[in-house]
Amino acid sequence: MTEWTKKTATLNTGAKIPLVGLGTWQSGPNEVKHAIPATGRAKNIGVSNFGIKNLEILLNAPTTTIVPAVNQIELHPNNPSPKLVAYNTSKGIHSTGYSCLGSTGSPLHKDPVLQEIVQKTGRTSSQVLLNWGLQNGWSVIPKSVTPARIVANFDLDGFDLEKGDVERLSGLKDRFKVCGDSWLPVKVFFGDDE
Ligand SMILES: NC(=O)c1ccc[n+]([C@@H]2O[C@H](COP(=O)([O-])OP(=O)(O)OC[C@H]3O[C@@H](n4cnc5c(N)ncnc54)[C@H](OP(=O)(O)O)[C@@H]3O)[C@@H](O)[C@H]2O)c1
Repeated sequence: MTEWTKKTATLNTGAKIPLVGLGTWQSGPNEVKHAIPATGRAKNIGVSNFGIKNLEILLNAPTTTIVPAVNQIELHPNNPSPKLVAYNTSKGIHSTGYSCLGSTGSPLHKDPVLQEIVQKTGRTSSQVLLNWGLQNGWSVIPKSVTPARIVANFDLDGFDLEKGDVERLSGLKDRFKVCGDSWLPVKVFFGDDE
């Protein structure tokens, strides 16, 4: 992966991760189960879908000895979560954005602001969305089963959006999550990310 992009982020553990990753879980069987810190086999520990409320519970628990290196959360212009990203950063937790293209069949790609930036830059809507995430300081994990799209999603070196365009995308009026928690037995999201 690192051969495909020079853009990296440094975690609170000192480890460097590529800013554009593959949107797939890449561990083998039992790797997670055995990857506890005492074994020395886990380089970094991350959480996912932790809002501020749940992060506070985690970080304030007497049993918590390690601050997660990463919080993987839904991040795209319809769900930019500025409060949560700022909270992550304030605790030294790197944010990773999932559904960073708005997920499959997203209406986001037709957004007039995004389309205007596509016309201006000559980049695809996916590349603009990915760079919007990178320039906001988080890593992105676009998922694709299409080889040409995977290559295009990594092809971001030397491409920067104008600051005003990053802000315009962050300010889109439509706000919604692709992944809610209505299907879960417990509530996970408390609307504390905006
Ligand atoms: N932690 C969590 O709770 C959580 C929740 C949701 C997702 N995730 C992770 O995040 C990853 C990505 O999220 P996601 O799958 O919801 O959404 P996504 O990456 O925003 O969107 C994936 C969709 O975009 C298409 N696509 C990818 N690159 C494209 C390109 N260059 N041009 C046009 N279309 C493109 C893909 O099509 P093709 O595949 O057909 O090319 C697929 O339909 C997933 O793999 C998953 O592991 C995590």
